[in-house]
Amino acid sequence: MKIVTTIADAQAQPHAKPRVLVPTMGALHKAHSELIRIAREHAGRDGEVAVSIFVNPLQFEPGSDYERYPRPEKADEEFCRNAGVDLLFRPLRDEVYEADRSTFVEETSLSSTLEGKSRPGHFRGVCTVVAKLFNILAPDAAVFGEKDFQQLAVIRRMVRDLNFKIDMIAVPTVREEDGLACSSRNQYLNPEERKQAMVLHKALLAAKNAGKKSANDVIGLAQKVINESAQARIDYVEVADAETLKPVEVVSTNSVLLLAVFFGKTRLIDNTRLA
Ligand code: PAJ
Repeated sequence: MKIVTTIADAQAQPHAKPRVLVPTMGALHKAHSELIRIAREHAGRDGEVAVSIFVNPLQFEPGSDYERYPRPEKADEEFCRNAGVDLLFRPLRDEVYEADRSTFVEETSLSSTLEGKSRPGHFRGVCTVVAKLFNILAPDAAVFGEKDFQQLAVIRRMVRDLNFKIDMIAVPTVREEDGLACSSRNQYLNPEERKQAMVLHKALLAAKNAGKKSANDVIGLAQKVINESAQARIDYVEVADAETLKPVEVVSTNSVLLLAVFFGKTRLIDNTRLA
């Protein structure tokens, strides 16, 4: 596995085609290994799997968990080596952002709801860094997880609108045994919060399986299950159209239920298709 830390080196590397990129912020876990596995499937034996690890300051709101976001450098490196990654791109903060940077990438429609409402500027940070990674590494395809459903939709839209010649590959949400979606942030949960966090998946399943047609009924049912946990504090529970992310009133095959819930200081997100 080759490790590259500068943009100049990344751009100077000759590489096998197709190159399939898995962008991450590190603290790698079993969902990331699933993304890497799917990347290898697409790259084939002769292609290249590239992983980037960069905790992107631009997508963290001021006062959020940027400083305390886990950065287990050595473990991540070993993780990538064991997963059969060919190229690890791990730039430093100052390498990625010039002090006087003044250009950003902003998607203005899909970004305005849900996570975008709760975390202003978040998707501008995500789009800017992902566009930069696409330019630096010039992948033929890139892999993203459906756990971050809105992020996937926003990046797809950016790829379309800015004509990146990159295939977008989506990977279904990877879960722990009790159903909690894997996330680097799960490690912030204390044992009691961790136990209670399984209500999120329970709520998604209950809402999906009830087969209700009214979005309000679906939302009400999900909220009821989440509120079984004394520690859960709901940020949002919404039913949206999977393409536009606009709220819907009547559930259809294209509807998705999305939620964000705090356990203590830790904010978790999850989602499910409703049909
Ligand atoms: P990060 O949270 O490290 O996630 C990297 C990729 O792993 C994303 O595509 C995310 O959707 C996917 N992922 C995380 N948990 C998952 C799960 N349980 N199941 C399926 N996929 C999962 O998302 C980011 O980093 C950043 O915003 C990034 C895109 C790298 C831009 O900075």
